[in-house]
Amino acid sequence: MGSSNMVKIFDTTLRDGEQAPGCGMTVEEKLRVAHQLEKLGVDIIEAGFPISSEGDFQSVKIIADTIRGCEIAGLCRANYNDIDRGWEAVKGAEAPRIHTFIATSDIHLKYKLKKSQDEVLEIISGAVKHARNYTENVEFSCEDATRTDLDYLCRAVELAVRAGANTINIPDTVGYTVPEEFAHIITTLLERVPGLDDLTLSVHCHNDLGLAVANSTAAVQAGARQVECTINGLGERAGNASLEEIVMGLKVRNDQNPYITRINTEQIYPTSRLVSQITGINVQPNKAIVGANAFAHEAGIHQDGVLKERITYEIMSPEEVGIPSNKIVLGKHSGRHAFRTRLEEYGYFLDDDAFMKAFVKFKDLADKKKYVFDEDIEALISEEFVRSSDFYKVISANYSGGSDMRPVATIKLLIDGEEVTVSEVGDGPVDAAYQAVSKATGLSPTLETYNVASITEGIDAQGEVTVRVEDEGAITQGQGANTDIVVASVKAYVNALNKLRWRKEHPKRATMKGL
Ligand code: KIV
Ligand code: ZN
Repeated sequence: MGSSNMVKIFDTTLRDGEQAPGCGMTVEEKLRVAHQLEKLGVDIIEAGFPISSEGDFQSVKIIADTIRGCEIAGLCRANYNDIDRGWEAVKGAEAPRIHTFIATSDIHLKYKLKKSQDEVLEIISGAVKHARNYTENVEFSCEDATRTDLDYLCRAVELAVRAGANTINIPDTVGYTVPEEFAHIITTLLERVPGLDDLTLSVHCHNDLGLAVANSTAAVQAGARQVECTINGLGERAGNASLEEIVMGLKVRNDQNPYITRINTEQIYPTSRLVSQITGINVQPNKAIVGANAFAHEAGIHQDGVLKERITYEIMSPEEVGIPSNKIVLGKHSGRHAFRTRLEEYGYFLDDDAFMKAFVKFKDLADKKKYVFDEDIEALISEEFVRSSDFYKVISANYSGGSDMRPVATIKLLIDGEEVTVSEVGDGPVDAAYQAVSKATGLSPTLETYNVASITEGIDAQGEVTVRVEDEGAITQGQGANTDIVVASVKAYVNALNKLRWRKEHPKRATMKGL
């Protein structure tokens, strides 16, 4: 489809994004992200890798059965078992897609697959034909395409086209290519592979050299019409091409990139926040488009310029990407109506019960803080209503200590519906509290990182704690916010433990390595 100027956005936050260490999401969390992606207007959601675990299968299935308005893809290696299981998961979608792949580079063939080029060609043909028995909507990817011999890549793609794939994806799996080279690969494929021009040519770039967005954009200029990307650039290693950067690059520089997407750009920031809250992965402050400083003007000369005329230093407006202009929200005299309006502006539509619970929490917070900012409300809503807390919930966290006294913490948790109270002493209040939580839950992972930051400015600001824990190879992240940082620390730890337990109960059975 090289001639149309419409570029499809294929979001793989729930599949490739989730492969990033500590980014695992529960079924419920994935469904929330999928609803938001639908609102954002992505064309395709890659919901997971169904054969990899029971949890992934369930997530893909529930997303396929629920989400309408975009295609739902499931990733499958190029073998019949994967494809059968993948189809089971996606078949309930309005427009289901099977996405099957195999590596084509000599490096992968020799060291990983231990197969010859001819054997791989046969596998491609068989897998795509098998997928076509289920649906016409079949995507085929040549893993490590950018390190594949170009003549062989053309042969592999030609076979996939002949076997019936309607989308061909060219991944830069290890983030190795550079824009001119990648554009050349795309142009060559379009010139040499018969019929490819009538199908969708897609690209999928990783960010190991920081070039994922530049490479994807160069590929679009060369004729690719689908871009695979993730929210906040989440993904394996250095991540994938960031959706927000690609979309805004095409929009803001439409003079150079005369292409359009279906993305509702005002939903970019809410989607970025949701993904960050659910995964516990903070967005770096200087991240393009969605970072906290992306629209902050520190230098006096810049501030002066922006106040006189915004376009002096701003190439797009914060509102265009959904960053709310009004930062100060509410105080302790604000009523229900104002609170509900603010929540709805943020995209949180709570039923009456949930709303009343949130309102009580808001009043509680407003008693402790003079001003309640957007970020405070987000943290409050995210803990209560956005993330899953199926197993453990914090009821209370109290502690005492000081320079002359060993710290003691008493933690009350709801564990699988039952209240459990445990007290422990520790080296500090957070240590005591974490020991109590570990004793109560029976989970004692290694605490890999612990960070605390203030959510907003001011002495009464809430502290936001982010932790990363590891247990037998499983890594999860947790976040918690409170005006008391020990309480925030307990919430963050419990959030990470909830995900850890979910991980243990839904182990990965298959990986993308091999067949
Ligand atoms: O990076 C990659 O090669 C992939 C493919 C499976 C599309 O994620
Ligand atoms: Zn990838």
